[in-house]
Amino acid sequence: MFAFFNKRKEQHKLQDKIELDMNNIPKHIAIIMDGNGRWAKERNLPRTMGHRAGVETIREIVKECNRLNIRYLTLYAFSTENWKRPQNEVNTLMELLVQYLRNEFDELNRNDVVINQIGDISKLPKVCQKELLSAYERTKNNKGVVMNLALNYGGRDEILHAVKNIVKAAKEDLISIEKIDESLFENYLFTSGMPDPDLIIRPSGEKRISNFLLWQCAYSEFWYSNIYWPDFKVKDLHRAIYDYQHRDRRFGGVK
Ligand code: FPP
Repeated sequence: MFAFFNKRKEQHKLQDKIELDMNNIPKHIAIIMDGNGRWAKERNLPRTMGHRAGVETIREIVKECNRLNIRYLTLYAFSTENWKRPQNEVNTLMELLVQYLRNEFDELNRNDVVINQIGDISKLPKVCQKELLSAYERTKNNKGVVMNLALNYGGRDEILHAVKNIVKAAKEDLISIEKIDESLFENYLFTSGMPDPDLIIRPSGEKRISNFLLWQCAYSEFWYSNIYWPDFKVKDLHRAIYDYQHRDRRFGGVK
């Protein structure tokens, strides 16, 4: 009888065990950390508790991305549209950010993580800006995964920001209009110098891009799942990468 149960347990473990091709690991993974509110609602908890639980998931996923040698991990933490949420939720998200940077700094730094951010952080509370800039300054020479926290980030806002700076440079005769091409344009994005995301993950059942990395997602592979972000585990990350490794990426060409 026990042997029967042990065998079933073993089979389950085998089903969960995913062999990743370490020669085909995505360079850049981007995640829309969705479903915190619904996770909390299902447990009769305030939405903010869902965000707190979401921070626990961030910890495990960053660690695993680093272990897998993923170069860039971009996490959508606060969009340009998220200001429309109730003030107490916005405040909690900003407080969680500061707590995260303070509490996790030592471990992230020990693990060689670069703590970077993308988005217009000038609109965030001063304490958030200070912690973000200081975390970046102290980790910018690390050699592990670059964790981009997307904060007050919007794909449209990023493109407008790039256009304004290109026009300004053209007016000052620093660049000529003929020289404006995709590679020049990319230099003006928040992600300048980084490869486009190979894989974009969105848990929680929603299947939309929600103003995330609009320019950069041109040839990204998408992976969706019904799991809420606080329930997203390392094995789910492995599933997404495994799936990615079995896609046929042609970038508009033919094999
Ligand atoms: C979307 O879920 C989630 C967010 C808008 C915030 C994500 C933030 C965190 C995971 C924690 C804070 C971040 C850091 C870096 C410390 P939702 O609230 O829209 O969920 P719902 O669709 O179920 O309502």
